[in-house]
Amino acid sequence: MLMKTEEHSANAVFSPEAGALAERFPGNFVWGVATSAYQIEGAAHEDGRGDSIWDEFCRRPGAIKDGSSGARACDHYHRIGEDVGLIASLGVNAYRFSLAWPRVQPLGAGGWNEKGFEFYDRLIDGLLERGVAPYLTLYHWDLPQALQESGGWVNRDTVGRFADYAAEVARRFGGRAASIATHNDPWVVAILGHEAGIFAPGLKSQKSAMQVSHHLLLSHGIALQALRAQHCTVPLGIVLNQSPIHPDTDSPEDLAKARLDDGLTIRWYMDALLHGRYPDDVLAFLGEDAPQIAPGDMEAIRQPLDFLGINYYTRNLSGTGAPLDPVKSGKEITDMGWEVFPGGMTELLQRLDGDYSLPPIYIMENGAAYPDRLVDGRVADAQRTRYLRSHIAAMADALEGGVDVRGYFVWSLLDNFEWADGYTKRFGLVFVDYATQRRTLKDSALWYRAFCAKARTATAGGSSATTGRSNDR
Ligand code: FCB
Repeated sequence: MLMKTEEHSANAVFSPEAGALAERFPGNFVWGVATSAYQIEGAAHEDGRGDSIWDEFCRRPGAIKDGSSGARACDHYHRIGEDVGLIASLGVNAYRFSLAWPRVQPLGAGGWNEKGFEFYDRLIDGLLERGVAPYLTLYHWDLPQALQESGGWVNRDTVGRFADYAAEVARRFGGRAASIATHNDPWVVAILGHEAGIFAPGLKSQKSAMQVSHHLLLSHGIALQALRAQHCTVPLGIVLNQSPIHPDTDSPEDLAKARLDDGLTIRWYMDALLHGRYPDDVLAFLGEDAPQIAPGDMEAIRQPLDFLGINYYTRNLSGTGAPLDPVKSGKEITDMGWEVFPGGMTELLQRLDGDYSLPPIYIMENGAAYPDRLVDGRVADAQRTRYLRSHIAAMADALEGGVDVRGYFVWSLLDNFEWADGYTKRFGLVFVDYATQRRTLKDSALWYRAFCAKARTATAGGSSATTGRSNDR
């Protein structure tokens, strides 16, 4: 019979080099795992939760690859006891998750749903009892559908609704959270949701998308002002997905296209948040589609950040010719078709550090989807372990180069509902059998657990994360 004890697997996947890697980080570095509400909770219509734009989007024929939805997902809502135990068993010291706005305020305005808050109360207390710090995200894409019916993020009123929601969450959980992030990936919400139309709410208008991006940023700024006005002392920030953009070729056309894409994906958000303006080249490109900006908006967006979260998965290639086919190009890719490019994380962090006066940085998501299979109780996902190891090493390079990186979260704790891809992509450290909801630690989870154990006792010298660095506020 195959030896398949956890210990056997851990030995098989944990190499001495990983121990040396752990030693490149200070002992107080934050090591976590991440999820988001709609992707794992399920219980979409229980205990008073309202509809979100994702519930509605999933009803559209053809919107989700496998015709599924997050209605049941990982059934996390009913399994938080088991799942908190699972998180703690990994030996991580942090867990990043989002609150479902429609669970705590079903209509996005007016009455609060106490049952919804009780769920997050139990989650947060359960984590704290196990020594795991809760990192909250307020908005990971699940807008209450009632707000969408009056225009959603295209409507400026949603900014105020979001600030009210943020203030209520902070009032209840601010004393127990390790940090609160306003938005996750505003580029995805704006562009994939309102221009490409492949994510909820499925609109196809560049003008709307850019207005949405402005309202998301504005709601972040107004929420931070509201939270600070009520003396919330928990670290506050935002999470951006960012990829270095590399030109397909050195032709002037490709270089110009790559620069514009850099503007649309990186500088649009970073310049607004840290410099209080949008990049001129992008505004010129947008012309009539540029957002309407009221007096005072840009100052409101540029609030002091206690931290900046970055989600890093890959680099992006950009050019004027036909998009390069990553499969045919022979590059190593994940099941998402995303190139495995760890050096891009170092490059990105160093570039941001050079161009902006950054607050402390957290890698709030990093991970990979692979077509995992559970065989004889084991998931042998050596590719994912390699992916994680190489990206943690890339982060260590940035740290040693002087970037103030404080933490790292693997996306994701569990296999889950991967948006328009439904359940066809598996990002988890933990394999989920959706029919039985049985959870099984993949080999990569055993590796990460062993890595975190090493990291807890590591004492790397000289890193900015231990000495701290002034956050230009
Ligand atoms: C990120 C999202 C997360 C997940 C990963 C693969 O951009 O924040 O929910 O979908 O991509």
